[in-house]
Order: sequence, then structure tokens, then C-alpha cells
Amino acid sequence: MNEQKSPLQKLRERYQPPLPQILQNLSQLQLEMGEPTTCVSDKEEIQSLFPKSFGRTLARAAKGASRQSKPLKVGVVLSGGQAAGGHNVIAGIFDGLHSLTKDASLIGFLGGPSGIVENKALEITKEVLAPYRNQGGFDLIGSGRTKIETEEQLAASLDTANQRKLDGLVVIGGDDSNTNAAVLAEYFMQKGCSTTVIGVPKTIDGDLKTEHIATSFGFDTAAKVYSEMIGNIARDALSAKKYTHFIKLMGRSASHITLECALATHPNLALIGEEVASLRLTLSDITKQVADLIETRAKSGKNYGVILVPEGLIEFIPEMKLLINELNHLAEEKEEWSFHELKPRLTPEASHCFGALPLEIQKQLLLDRDPHGNVQVSMIETEKLLMATVKEELKRRNFSGKFAAQNHFFGYEGRAGFPSNFDTHYCYALGQTAALLIDERLSGYIAFVDNLSSSVEDWGVGGAPITSLLNIEVRKGKNKPVIQKALVDLEGKAFAFFAKNRAKWAKEDQYRFPGPIQFFGDRDVTDAISNTLSLKS
Ligand code: FBP
Repeated sequence: MNEQKSPLQKLRERYQPPLPQILQNLSQLQLEMGEPTTCVSDKEEIQSLFPKSFGRTLARAAKGASRQSKPLKVGVVLSGGQAAGGHNVIAGIFDGLHSLTKDASLIGFLGGPSGIVENKALEITKEVLAPYRNQGGFDLIGSGRTKIETEEQLAASLDTANQRKLDGLVVIGGDDSNTNAAVLAEYFMQKGCSTTVIGVPKTIDGDLKTEHIATSFGFDTAAKVYSEMIGNIARDALSAKKYTHFIKLMGRSASHITLECALATHPNLALIGEEVASLRLTLSDITKQVADLIETRAKSGKNYGVILVPEGLIEFIPEMKLLINELNHLAEEKEEWSFHELKPRLTPEASHCFGALPLEIQKQLLLDRDPHGNVQVSMIETEKLLMATVKEELKRRNFSGKFAAQNHFFGYEGRAGFPSNFDTHYCYALGQTAALLIDERLSGYIAFVDNLSSSVEDWGVGGAPITSLLNIEVRKGKNKPVIQKALVDLEGKAFAFFAKNRAKWAKEDQYRFPGPIQFFGDRDVTDAISNTLSLKS
């Protein structure tokens, strides 16, 4: 009865993900090269930073004659936050390499990019990989947030690639990690190292999107896990009729997850950071908006509700953005600041904003930055901040109804569970595509799988030069080439659908209950794609 593995764990281990038609025989593929690419902006600067890898063409797989491959030795690394499906990318690379030549080998660098710098790796064999197939998490090799950027780190990575005689290195990560892949690829080329560096788009945040990358992996599963829980909370609210639930959802910057969860569950209110920024809403405007909702619903006897708050909201509120930018700059000077030291160093606007915040939020804003110099928004309790400001506002209005609030944060619980069928299949295809790109020696490319709203058999695959996704942004006070984050498109179909329906969802209780991710049964349920993806098609 009490076995080590759950029945679902065992069944998923044995699951064989279907492959797109085009990937069914890797050794009979060729890559068709398109037009030369450029970059998002700042062409001259990007070109001068990436002289060897800039401007190459898009590559798309097409059926071709038999290819002759030599046994490839490849390293893989997981970088950044967990996202469901990472193990399947590794499985896809492993199976892809072995379908090209049976003597291929794969190693996994341990604990993220620092594993490359420190040359710590694990040999991934069929037996080692078997219990991780179609499972959540990154625990086979672990992950980390080290950024490979100093000359010493780059040189150490080069040593690792040379010592291990790697034909390829696959970096599975988000925008910053794929930028890092581009930097490594260029560095290796300049040093005459033949290791091909390939990126794979990962992040639950869904903000690594381009013309060919319709979504990053992990987004689908995370949004489905959160939507299940939001649906459960909505049912509870509807049953007890006594609480207004403020639910903060992960997503470091962009509000894609919140928008997707809103489309899946129809909450009474979902704040979208990008809209807040575009309308230049202040914290006081947002507070009034929430208080209006509570008053209106109370008039129809509804002293309950569900409100979604994106984790990244705080950085989209203009006065908070100003404050965070100033705090980020000060954090470069020294790590810890006391409140009295800070005050004279902030502009009057930022100082006023800081002073008006509850003490707990002030402390959270001063916590450690991540290795990229960003404030860690998952540590800031924005939902509690709103609960407090709304309570004050209702008091000011002499609100006579009931306002009892509950706070929730859905974040880590969505990142490492069993990947949905979509992520299971998508990741496996991404891994196989990465193997193909390495065999083609396309260094500095990011693997893509597109046509995702069609059935798996019809998905297309290829690679895009990472330099084509770059622009220059200021990081830690310096100009840096980075992949531009894809924010929620306020002109897009997903937002338009939400905007058209939200007034109705605010007043009436039209909650939707998506339920848990399913792996068995009707394919409309098991293989459903996200609303964001299906509305885009
Ligand atoms: P990635 O962009 O690296 O995939 O991570 C995204 C994320 O899950 C955010 O949604 C969240 O704010 C952050 O990571 C949390 O970081 P950490 O795991 O370091 O606490």
C-alpha cells in the first residue's frame, strides 16, 4: 500500500509522449534556412557585441535525405525557476541524440549555470533518466540563478566545454538565461571552441514569446494548477458567502498568468499590470477600483468575491516603479540600508511613496535582490497591501456592508507538479529539436516548436538566432544586451476577450471551475491548450 512511488508517478514514467510528424525520424530531416535576421532594436550595439553570431537566418525542419551524424556528446543545464516539463526536455534531448547515433552521450550540469563554471555534472543514462520521464520538478540535476558574465566565469565555462569535449550545450531557461546562452555561444565562437550552444524557452511567467515561440514551457501547467485552486476558492466563496479572497499569482513581471487564470475562472476582478501601467493608475486608483467593486457587490447582498492580483503588479504602478528603481540603484552601492539612511537618498516622490507604505511592505522592498539586480516580487505581499488600503478606503467611505478578506499566494505550488499533457508533449518536442540543432551545429539558436494550437502531429519545429530577440536595456546601471520580455498585449485577443467580459464577471457570479489537470479520458480535457494560446490562433 505505502509504496515509495504513487500510482500516477508510475503510470507517467511509462507514458510515451507523441511526437510531431516532422520529428518522427530525426535522421531524415534537413533544415531550411530563411532570410537573415536582425534584432529587436539597438542593431549597431548588438552587432558589435555579437560579431560572429549576429544576423543569421531562421532555420525550419523539413523532410530530407538521410543524414550522417557522428556520436554527439552534449551537456544540459536547467537555469532559473522551476517550470513543469524540464525533465521532458532532457528526455527529448536524450532520445533525440540516441535516435541520431546510438553512441551519443548526455551529461547534466548540476545546480544550474554554476555547474558549468565549476564543471560539476552527472552522466545521464537511460536508467538514470527513467524515473524522471513525464514528472515535474528539476530535481534530476537541479537548477540555479547564477549568471555567467564575468571573464573568469566565461573562461571557466570554456574550460569545461573543452575538457569534456562537448559537441553541444543546451541551456534551458527564461529570458535572462537564454541571453546568457547567446553570450556563451558568441564567446565560444570567438575562442575557436566548437561547442554548439542552444537555448530552450522555459518560464512559468510566459513572457519569453516571439513570432515562433508562442509560449514558454511551464506556463500551461502553472496556470492550470492555479486555475484549479482559484476555482476551488470561488466555490468556497459562493458557498460560505462571507469572504473576499485576494489571490496573488506568480509571474515576476508580466501578467500573463493572471490573465490566463482570469480567462479560465472568471473572477470578480483581475488586475493586469500592463493595463495599470498604460492607464498610469496609482495605488490609490487601484484601491478605489477594488473598493467600488466591494460596495457594488454588497448592494446586491454579495459580501464575498474573488480578486486576482499579479505578483508583478507592484512594478507597474508608476510611483512604486519609481521607488523600486531607486531602491535597486541604491542596492548596487551596498546591500543593507536602514530606514533613516534611505530617506535622504530617495527623491521626494519616492520617499513619500515609501513612507506611505505599511512597515511590512517597506521591509519586503528592502530584501535581497536576485542575481540580475531585480527586486524579488514573490517576497512582496501585494495582496496584503491591497487588503489594507481597501479596508482604509471603505472605512473612509463609511461602508456599511461586510468586508472580511482572506489572502492567498499561489506561486511555487504551480511550478514543479506533473506537467500537463501540453507541457509533456511540448517539452519532449523541444528537447528533440535541440538535439537536431546541435547536430546541425547552429550555435546561438533557441529551439522552437510552433503551430501549437493544432494537434501535436502537425506542430512545426526549428531554431531562431537568439541575437534576433535582443535589445539593449539598463541592468545594474549598465547597458546590457537582453532578450526583451513579452508583456501582455493590450491590443491582443486574450486581453480583448477579458476586457469585454469583466464587467459581467464583476457583478454576477459567473465563476468557472476548471478542476485538476487530467491525464486520462476525453482528449478535449486532457490535451486542452491554454486560453491564451487558443485565442491567439
Ligand atoms: P524564471 O523566469 O526563472 O522561470 O522564474 C520565474 C519565477 O517563478 C517567477 O514567477 C517568480 O517571481 C520567481 O521565479 C521566484 O524566484 P525564486 O524561485 O528564486 O524564488
